[in-house]
Amino acid sequence: MTTATAVSDLTASDPIADPAAHRVLTGDRPTGPLHLGHYFGTLQNRVRLQDRGVEMFVLVADYQVITDRDLADRLAEHTENLVLEYLAAGLDPDRATIFAHSAVPALNQLLLPFLSLVSVAELSRNPTVKDEIAHSSQAAVNGLMFTYPVHQAADILFCKADLVPVGQDQLPHLEVARTIARRFNERYPHTDGSTVFPRPKALLSDAPMLLGTDGGKMSKSRGNAVSLGATEDETARIIRGAKTDVERRISYDPANRPEVSSLVLLAALCQERTPEAIAEEIGDGGAAALKRTVTESVNEYFRPLRARRAELATDRGHLRQVLRDGAARANAIADATLAEVREVMGAI
Ligand code: TRP
Repeated sequence: MTTATAVSDLTASDPIADPAAHRVLTGDRPTGPLHLGHYFGTLQNRVRLQDRGVEMFVLVADYQVITDRDLADRLAEHTENLVLEYLAAGLDPDRATIFAHSAVPALNQLLLPFLSLVSVAELSRNPTVKDEIAHSSQAAVNGLMFTYPVHQAADILFCKADLVPVGQDQLPHLEVARTIARRFNERYPHTDGSTVFPRPKALLSDAPMLLGTDGGKMSKSRGNAVSLGATEDETARIIRGAKTDVERRISYDPANRPEVSSLVLLAALCQERTPEAIAEEIGDGGAAALKRTVTESVNEYFRPLRARRAELATDRGHLRQVLRDGAARANAIADATLAEVREVMGAI
């Protein structure tokens, strides 16, 4: 992977001069409830982009789940649950197109020509895929594990998205999408010389990383995360159990005091203040006072989101309707792109 990608990628706080000139696509695998790390890492930023008038596509990457686990029987439930998290966080289905990529058959037809544009060697040296293989609990690696980044290129290119909000781990996949766009455009230009696909850029989150309550990477499966839908009591219990250190005076020093600093940061994000101001305020109060502040800040900040979430959760029909509407919009665009692809390839 070249460093040229990183140079041209943007971070979330870069000003977007003309919001209406962009189309943003991003997505998540539906593998379980989202937590505070997801919220401050990406969800909040998506809602900000939406509110600034950027056209948003958010996809539930249900087919990607079966790269390394067998969840096929509960995919529908997981997919609806992810829509619930999106809506609770503030994505508005009238402005953002929310859809499951398995509901868009044209993506699979784009996959075939796209697969012809990348070599097996390129597919097998993708560092994110290698990492997932290393951490997979499955006995054998299936073919989708190597090819899903190409399917993901179809996710991005079908709607000609030019900005893709992602974390660092997704940069290799974005590079695949850019490579495919470039090679497709070179090989199959329109007769007037114009090209089919833009070359998408990453929009990297610049929110600092929150740690799990054990000081490790925040992850639902490690039981070290506060989920968005947690009750206020559960939130208090999880934060009470968070790892801290022996120094009484609270400071914000991520390099030397990662666990304490992550808690300070969480309170700061919720109160929309600087971590330094939060640390100063707690001062000599020690870990107990810090945890009280964090718990109150989280519960207060997420109260409206959680209330919305509880209300939305009672209406599964609405969640399915959002997916149906999103799929209809996505299919219309994907069919048009596929028609264009077939035309330049001389397939008609
Ligand atoms: N691979 C992403 C993840 O694991 C999910 C994803 C699928 C995605 N298709 C995408 C992200 C397209 C951005 C753009 O989180």
